[in-house]
Amino acid sequence: MNVSKCKLLDLPKIADNRGNLTFVESHRHVPFPINRVYYLYDVPGGSERGGHAHKELEQFIVAMSGSFDVILNDGQSERRFTLNRSYFGLYVCPMIWRSLENFSSGAVCLVLASDFYKEADYYRDYDEYVAAKRAREA
Ligand code: TYD
Repeated sequence: MNVSKCKLLDLPKIADNRGNLTFVESHRHVPFPINRVYYLYDVPGGSERGGHAHKELEQFIVAMSGSFDVILNDGQSERRFTLNRSYFGLYVCPMIWRSLENFSSGAVCLVLASDFYKEADYYRDYDEYVAAKRAREA
């Protein structure tokens, strides 16, 4: 798995003069079953979130409000994505180190995840992550 597998995906947008509507369906708009939803909000200016990788978890990250950057690193290459609209999001495959930064005031980061919260699924140490990834690919 490397950062080239991670991409921005467009979501349906039902435009209406009463307000727009966007929806997300498992396996249709995101390539995994949605088993958990969580969100980051009230993020103080200058804070960084993330700073870990997941062994199996797949995620889809959307800026519901405001903007922030997601930096993806696979141990060899790195890509930065700016999320700033609620009608597209970033698919993040397993075994990718991610960091989120540059949160605007009032930003809300929605994350759709393929599985329940399991601390055992995390790599929280970058060197350990890179070693595990190399071992998997050997
Ligand atoms: P973490 O995943 O490190 O947050 P982020 O990637 O956004 O910086 O999680 C922060 C804390 O919240 C950590 O103690 C685990 C806990 N947590 C849950 O209990 N359930 C969840 O679904 C998530 C995402 C985190």
